Amino acid sequence: MISEGIGSWAPPPLKSRILVDFSSPNVAKEMHVGHLRSTILGDIIARTLEFTGAEVLRINHIGDWGTQFGMLIQHMSESRPEGLGEEGGSEEDVADLQNLYRAARVRFDSEEDFKMRSQQAVRTLQSGDAQYIAAWKRICAASRKQFRDIYRRLNVELVDRGESFYNPFLAPLVGELKEGGYIEEWQGAQCIFVDNIKVPFMVQKSDGGFGYAATDLAALKYRLTEDKADWILYVTDVGQSQHFQQLFGAARKIGLLTDGECGVKVDHITFGLVLGEDGKRLKTRSGTAVRLADLLDEAKARCRAAIKERWDERGEYISEEDLEDAASAMGYGAVKYADLKNNRMSNYRFSYDEMLHTKGNTAVYLMYAYARLCGILRNTERDVVELAANEKIVLEHEKEVALALQIARFPEAVERTIRELLPNRLCEYLCELSNVVNGFHCECQVIGSEREASRLLLCQATVMVKRACFKLLGISPLNRI
Ligand code: ARG
Repeated sequence: MISEGIGSWAPPPLKSRILVDFSSPNVAKEMHVGHLRSTILGDIIARTLEFTGAEVLRINHIGDWGTQFGMLIQHMSESRPEGLGEEGGSEEDVADLQNLYRAARVRFDSEEDFKMRSQQAVRTLQSGDAQYIAAWKRICAASRKQFRDIYRRLNVELVDRGESFYNPFLAPLVGELKEGGYIEEWQGAQCIFVDNIKVPFMVQKSDGGFGYAATDLAALKYRLTEDKADWILYVTDVGQSQHFQQLFGAARKIGLLTDGECGVKVDHITFGLVLGEDGKRLKTRSGTAVRLADLLDEAKARCRAAIKERWDERGEYISEEDLEDAASAMGYGAVKYADLKNNRMSNYRFSYDEMLHTKGNTAVYLMYAYARLCGILRNTERDVVELAANEKIVLEHEKEVALALQIARFPEAVERTIRELLPNRLCEYLCELSNVVNGFHCECQVIGSEREASRLLLCQATVMVKRACFKLLGISPLNRI
């Protein structure tokens, strides 16, 4: 193996301790395609920042402390004659969280009494009642297991630090804000008003409860003072823009954030919707949100069939295990790339057929192109490590020059990706690199040519750069398909 040393091509880090808040699904609700976008965009941004040598904290701000727990726990306690019990319910109660959520929601919306009891249940939970806390923990644990399974499949690392983590800080924070004179009362609620935004940033509701806003303000303070982050990025859909403008505005107003050269940077990384083939928000046939797990299953199954067919056609044998790995790598890679290649701010149409095309700007095309290069390096009798030590790359043919130039643009592509926080920049680069290699293949024979040594080295350099791109995009390329 040639020592890659590609890390030395990385641009210098813009900040040293960066916190990326991404994925952040809500407990008891299934992760949907919106969370897919947050998860993969956040992961790729984190990977690219890590590549520059920055220390990156990958934080999963799970919605684990909302009012939804009132109705869930209330429903659980009423579904069985013995109530919640010391354990806070049973395994079956939480085995099918989506159904539990749906059933509780229907009652909450249609039964006035149940709604009242649910609201009381929130207060009981928040007062620290042992049974309710046990039930809440049960629900969170079951949800976390599902999330983890998705992260394992997508090869995404995250540290869980949900909203509930900030609970102990909420009341003292609001106390400080009152003392500092930052709070205005609005319809009985405690609010901060931020310049140019009429909607109040509500840090304490009229019933005394704390919500999303207070939690985010406490989280921001924690991230600055305890985590000592010097850049904080939040990855959510564009629908939350106002919330983050208010959050950053409030933080400036209370002196938590300061502008200027050495100030901490905060950014809201927004993204658009995932649309179905009909151009409307992606939904299942029955009109419900598409489950992320189902979407990944489908992409994988389709790739599995395509890969098997290819091997059968060649009359070659692929083991079950290799087929399984290849199908996951290609299927999940295809889903990720189909998302990442778009400017994150725009909506995009989700289509299995399109994303699994072997031609065009798809992960499948890029993976085949990569495997082809690996094939050349596998088929040569020459030892590329030795060549690298003894031979030079000579660029004479215009396609060789074009390829070398494109390889040399890798650092610039990484730098742009970070500066603009747009992963599609890296996709564009990788796709262009593959196109340029295609041109090279068409006109420049490698094995058996006069300049075999030099061209083999050029292929090896391309493989190294492509591998680095795939890694930054969270895609596992295959050496052989
Ligand atoms: N749980 C929220 C949602 O699903 C996203 C949280 C984003 N992070 C944050 N610090 N507010 O919409």
